[in-house]
Amino acid sequence: MKIILTGATGFLGRETALAAVRRGHQVIAIGGSRMPEIPGVGRTLQADLTEPQQAIETLLLNEFPDAIINCAGVPTMEACDAAPEKAEKLNAGLPRFLAMMANHLSGRLVHVSTDMVFDGDKGNYEHTDKPIPLNLYGQTKLMAEKDVLQFGKNHAVALRVPVISGNTPAGDKSLHERLLVQWSAGKTTPLFTDEIRQPVSASNLGDVLVELCERSNLSGVYHWAGAEALSRHEIGVRIAKHFGLAPEKFITPTTHAAAGEKAARRARDLSFILHPLQGKLKTRVQSFEEILSEMQVPAQCAVWHAEQTGRTVVRRLVKGVDF
Ligand SMILES: NC(=O)c1ccc[n+]([C@@H]2O[C@H](COP(=O)([O-])OP(=O)(O)OC[C@H]3O[C@@H](n4cnc5c(N)ncnc54)[C@H](OP(=O)(O)O)[C@@H]3O)[C@@H](O)[C@H]2O)c1
Repeated sequence: MKIILTGATGFLGRETALAAVRRGHQVIAIGGSRMPEIPGVGRTLQADLTEPQQAIETLLLNEFPDAIINCAGVPTMEACDAAPEKAEKLNAGLPRFLAMMANHLSGRLVHVSTDMVFDGDKGNYEHTDKPIPLNLYGQTKLMAEKDVLQFGKNHAVALRVPVISGNTPAGDKSLHERLLVQWSAGKTTPLFTDEIRQPVSASNLGDVLVELCERSNLSGVYHWAGAEALSRHEIGVRIAKHFGLAPEKFITPTTHAAAGEKAARRARDLSFILHPLQGKLKTRVQSFEEILSEMQVPAQCAVWHAEQTGRTVVRRLVKGVDF
């Protein structure tokens, strides 16, 4: 299958490109400000996708891909607030254009959405629950979901995903990396005991996105996550223990009430029900223990970690990728 992948220089996009290569597909990987450098991916290019028609319409028409995976985006609440025009173009305009093109080419579109289309009041969200986004990030992602389904018709999937964990080349992007970087700098981290998330690993999600390209009978909005809904505090404690660190030395439990105004726009419980996708895919839902087992100490924290724990970091390959 020929797959055009946007956002290939990003955290999720890179893992998705690797998953597509592992599964024997031909990938054309598109970066934004950077050129993708991904083992096994032969064709790479850079394009500013805020104006997608100018940037990639010719490419799409010439290449006639079997599938498009959209991992490009402005992926946080803070980044969207800082650049609202870019957020609207990239998070909503780009998926609308890709959905129209997928429909025109009779190819698949697999678009990545977010748990933040919900307000977090209810928790255990089903894919049919009414989204109520609390911020511009959630609003632009919700706009995209509607357009992807309207214009992509039965060719398109919008997959809502939660906070993503994994290892990144710079070692400073995912949750465990940010925690270890803070702790190695002598800081402690306040973590909410009453904010629930259901983390997923980037490598597992990469497999799911590619499997969705392969499964042309699936369209619509779906949910995917890890198996366990945990408080941010529990997530931090289990990460600390996984790395042989005493959680009480590095983590302070806190609550939304104690944080006051600072927590006003934070969603409380974004846990997901994974039905019906869980029963339809070959890719398995991972336990949090499995997600932990993929986490590695970022290179810049290795000396500090060895001093703290007496453990030497052995670099391992996670699904063939050496960080
Ligand atoms: N990370 C999470 O925990 C999480 C959770 C839920 C949903 N998601 C969703 O997952 C998707 C990927 O997130 P991520 O964490 O992988 O984000 P990321 O690491 O920031 O990657 C974003 C990608 O978008 C590209 N991009 C940005 N501006 C662009 C532009 N003007 N033109 C072309 N490409 C551009 C970036 O390219 P350059 O870097 O080369 O500029 C990068 O490849 C997003 O849709 C996000 O909403 C993420």
